[in-house]
Amino acid sequence: MDILVVGGGGREHAIVWALAKSPQAGRIYCAPGNAGIENIAECVPIGVGEFDRLTAFAIEKNIGFVVIGPDDPLVGGIVDAFEVKGIPVFGPRQNAAAIEGSKTFMKDLLHKYKIPTAAYEKFDNYEDAQAYLLKQELPIVIKADGLAAGKGVTVAFALDEAESALRDIMVNKVFGEAGAQVVIEEFLAGQEMSILAFVDGEIVRPMVAAQDHKQVYDNDQGPNTGGMGTYSPLPHIASSIIDEAIETIIKPTAKAMVAEGRPFRGVLFAGLMISPDGTPKTIEFNARFGDPETQVVLPRLKTDLLEIMLAAVNGTLADIPIEWSEEAAVCVVLASGGYPAAYSKGITIQGLDNKTDALVFHAGTAKNEAGEWVTNGGRVLGVVGLGQNIAEARISAYREADRIQFEGKHLRTDIAAKALI
Ligand code: AMP
Ligand code: GLY
Repeated sequence: MDILVVGGGGREHAIVWALAKSPQAGRIYCAPGNAGIENIAECVPIGVGEFDRLTAFAIEKNIGFVVIGPDDPLVGGIVDAFEVKGIPVFGPRQNAAAIEGSKTFMKDLLHKYKIPTAAYEKFDNYEDAQAYLLKQELPIVIKADGLAAGKGVTVAFALDEAESALRDIMVNKVFGEAGAQVVIEEFLAGQEMSILAFVDGEIVRPMVAAQDHKQVYDNDQGPNTGGMGTYSPLPHIASSIIDEAIETIIKPTAKAMVAEGRPFRGVLFAGLMISPDGTPKTIEFNARFGDPETQVVLPRLKTDLLEIMLAAVNGTLADIPIEWSEEAAVCVVLASGGYPAAYSKGITIQGLDNKTDALVFHAGTAKNEAGEWVTNGGRVLGVVGLGQNIAEARISAYREADRIQFEGKHLRTDIAAKALI
């Protein structure tokens, strides 16, 4: 069966890598892909938002199965566009992707079904939001309603910070329509954890848990990024807490979506905060695989990913055995100097063609005219070490991260350090 994967980052590299291991996989295309993905799939220069061109390409190539990576096209209705053409596709329809596309929708859903999350109010009027803000305690969290490329959330420790975030969203409209509404939310203290699950309606098949590192510098300093590194499993978090999150948050949310007439099919990704007393609460839902969570979760998947995705689409997700390896995985992101603010592209990368035990997933690379690897994004590479435990996996990831060099290379040196304690 020939497959089309939509997207072009480290997440899609990991998805293509996992799908390519399936005996059922024929030719794999990736749109638009990147230079690293090109090594294992045929990249097609079509953007993730070009639904007409993507569906026409799938029909022309007789694609048997489509997998969608990123949030933007999901929220824009790409799954519906493929379904209309009768092409089997893995991912939520537009009405279900709203769980990521609209924070007010997500918060109202959780509130209605009494699913644990931070207390909140939503506003579509700046004066009301500002008046409410003045009555709240600090820290406080300000969120633009819609997709804002990971930049729509401000955790404010001072009032002027909160006020300026609110003004940016509602008055200066820096996120455009995505900021037509805001959520002002209670600050949750604790440890974050990501749980992803394969979901088809009320059927929930959780994946192994992972932890991301969002801030750009060590010790969680500096601005938020798309994610600077991940690891799995989480040996310092009791499995009872992970189970509780699945039972009290993920399963009830899948059920609520069905009850609302928006059955979710695809990967449901819960960003959770574990409060100091051990109770998990929802921070956010995403309607897709995480990036770079995927880079540590899929290497631990022993079952054929394509079989699981096909089962979700064919209504047999409940029956398929899904096995995970006991191995640990640590992903260290190598980023361009300056990221998440402005950075240069086109810088030569050395050491990428090493023979290595680590997995190297490309997020933002290209080849120049001389055929050399060059940087082509903020997050450039995700280096994944595997081992018997986190300590071993970490050593492997950092060994490889050191071998790969490019001017301005930035990485966090404390990925998975919490899990060593
Ligand atoms: P989000 O885009 O909703 O995942 O938010 C980005 C990041 O902001 C999260 O990963 C958290 O680190 C932080 N955050 C969001 N909401 C809250 C909250 N209510 N309390 C504390 N931190 C939060
Ligand atoms: N790593 C966080 C995300 O994919 O949203």
